[in-house]
Amino acid sequence: MRPLLDHYSRPLRDLRISVTDRCNMRCPYCMPKEVFGRGFAFMPNSELLSFEELTRVCRIVAELGVSKIRLTGGEPLLRRELERLVAMLAQVHGIDDIALTTNGILLASKAQALKDAGLSRVTVSLDALDERVFHSMSDTRLPLARILEGIDAADAVGLSPVKINMVVRRGVNDDCVLDMAEYFRNSSRTLRFIEYMDVGTTNEWKLDEVVPAAQIVEMIGARWPLQALPVSRDGEVASRYRYLDGAGEIGFIHSVSEPFCSGCTRARMSADGKLYTCLFASEGHDLRARVRSDASDEELGSYVREIWRARSDRYSAERAQLNPTMPPKRVEMSYIGG
Ligand code: GTP
Ligand code: 5AD
Ligand code: SF4
Ligand code: SF4
Repeated sequence: MRPLLDHYSRPLRDLRISVTDRCNMRCPYCMPKEVFGRGFAFMPNSELLSFEELTRVCRIVAELGVSKIRLTGGEPLLRRELERLVAMLAQVHGIDDIALTTNGILLASKAQALKDAGLSRVTVSLDALDERVFHSMSDTRLPLARILEGIDAADAVGLSPVKINMVVRRGVNDDCVLDMAEYFRNSSRTLRFIEYMDVGTTNEWKLDEVVPAAQIVEMIGARWPLQALPVSRDGEVASRYRYLDGAGEIGFIHSVSEPFCSGCTRARMSADGKLYTCLFASEGHDLRARVRSDASDEELGSYVREIWRARSDRYSAERAQLNPTMPPKRVEMSYIGG
């Protein structure tokens, strides 16, 4: 079968599915309390794609070349019986990797069931090991220890290698970089540092809060010498390094300082079934309306194929040229998925 390519010849390989727009944390860079407070209207359950609908969509996109699914949110473990969805997706022909991005709070209790259902691996978001800094990054009273237990549980059941994502904000948690590196050195977990992005419109992002990956490489390398590793596969978002003393590897996701749009093979779907061709898109394509009509699988496949063929997004690459006075209209990360 000829691969489905977009306007810049990028194939469609990954689908990132947000299974809920809710979260049990309120990281100010993602879901600030002032916006996502008590009165915020989250999606009612009837708006969410059911597990059956999601599985059908995955079957259809697998035929178009998708082999990798990532379940995200919001916090995906808030979606009831998520392991049932994993088990259904694991049966889809062509899908060989099912990953989950979670904040880890509910992971300890769910890890075994997820593994049994066929989940391949997990990525846990964790921005600090210092309780005080953790609380200011996540604006929650939930205990950090529970996340560490979740990471251990994921490892113990074989949802590995577990990746740890740390978003770095200058002046908030950048002084935790070395502590985090030290904690995850010599462990089977891979720590990745993420540049704070201007995703959505609610986080009041400022460029001077971004710590460029190169600075973190330098900071860590000065303490534990590093060596860059070759790109292991097309479309990889993280640049990888290994510790020269054999303590494992770390990664850097530099979407602000060094965008990786040219290799972007990712489509995203919000929990209410809108398909987005870029994390920074302002409009989605209403797949749910078609899934809930009497459209056949072939018709749904053609719809997605046409959307992907027309895709010309490269937001991060264009960011520098964007007019900063232009009113932004972008969906939130908690809605579209991380
Ligand atoms: P695996 O390689 O499958 O483990 O996943 P990954 O490397 O894609 O990492 P993950 O899904 O954990 O993504 C890590 C973070 O990178 C996300 O939370 C985002 O912050 C950022 N990211 C992922 N995909 C994109 C993308 O397409 N565009 C941009 N700008 N950022 C992305
Ligand atoms: N910039 C960078 N990463 C972000 N995430 C959420 N919001 C942002 C942002 N503004 C990350 C989280 C998590 C994943 C879901 O997305 O830390 O790892
Ligand atoms: Fe929740 Fe993750 Fe967003 Fe934090 S970054 S509010 S944990 S979805
Ligand atoms: Fe892909 Fe858009 Fe991110 Fe570029 S900005 S890597 S096109 S999702």
